[in-house]
Amino acid sequence: MSIKTLEKEDIPKGEERDISEIITIMRDFLKKKYPPGETVRHFHPKMHGCLKAQFVVKDTIPDDKKVGLFKEAKTYDAWIRFSNAPPTKKSDKRATSRGMAIKVLGVEGEVIEKDEIEEKTQNFLMTTSPVLSVGNVKNYKKAIYALTKGPLRMLLYGINPFNWRVIAITLLRAKKHTNLLNVEYFTGSPFLFGNKGVVKFCARPQKLSSDKNHKKGSSHFLRERLVEDLRSRDAVFDFLVQFQNNPKTEPIENTSIEWKSTFYKVAEIHIPIQVFNYQSRIIFGENLFFSPWQCLKDHKPLGGINRARKAVYQSLSEYRKKRNGVNKE
Ligand code: HEM
Repeated sequence: MSIKTLEKEDIPKGEERDISEIITIMRDFLKKKYPPGETVRHFHPKMHGCLKAQFVVKDTIPDDKKVGLFKEAKTYDAWIRFSNAPPTKKSDKRATSRGMAIKVLGVEGEVIEKDEIEEKTQNFLMTTSPVLSVGNVKNYKKAIYALTKGPLRMLLYGINPFNWRVIAITLLRAKKHTNLLNVEYFTGSPFLFGNKGVVKFCARPQKLSSDKNHKKGSSHFLRERLVEDLRSRDAVFDFLVQFQNNPKTEPIENTSIEWKSTFYKVAEIHIPIQVFNYQSRIIFGENLFFSPWQCLKDHKPLGGINRARKAVYQSLSEYRKKRNGVNKE
């Protein structure tokens, strides 16, 4: 496979202002919605479980893909937090996207941001959708206004809240999932792959579990299913990279366009049999901080959506912990 030249990032005017407005809107939402001591994440507040895992870099990686975390065969310990994406904790029966946040521990090489639990980690934040419908920071700001303040207030400010393309993609990508271990997860946004190119990442389940007995009655059936599955069997995901081949059809600055190039396997995620649904693990998972910027320089997040996430995740997590009186270790 040939590696194509990288598309450069293209930072639009006013992006920093948009990002700080996003932070203000999100903080106001948390302040209004939750009392001190009980503040949860703005997005992905509903956790299904925080799991121990191993991230296994394979010895079969071809030379043209040996870079950063993937430069040599090695097994790393990792944490995985599964969640529902929407800003309020709703029933698992609703169609939406789910989150799989992976924190690979003890990585080697230069990192962009240090992690509070261990200096050097590589985080991958993924959802069940291969695209983020808003596409760029400007549209994201509009969407977050609409979500938190309501479309009528936006019209009063002279902002048109109705972007039909964004609404259509969001609705199309929202799914009623039956088992968190049976679905694919995608980063949706692009990352550097050292000097080899620009990629998106994906985690794809190897063994599917049977969904026969899932309890349709409970609004927390995804967690219940996870508890039940991991009591008796381990789960394995393939971890894949997708190289940008054509910057025009596979852009960096627009996450609403799905890349079509082939995925290549570079690692596996092993989730062993375990019990995880107990109080101290739940508290640990709630306080764990994931950010795509806690990563190796070789896997620098790219594009406006990722640039926005740098300040947003840091600031929102600090705000949440301060309101809850949680100190950094
Ligand atoms: C394709 C793009 C994106 C993906 C795949 C993604 C995925 C995720 C995931 C999996 C989590 C949960 C992490 C955890 O378990 O702690 C999360 C949290 C969050 N996301 Fe995103 N996200 C994306 C874009 C964005 C953007 C553009 C923003 C805002 C500018 C944003 C704001 C947040 C916030 C505020 C949290 C909670 C952070 C915290 O309080 O710790 N996300 N995201």
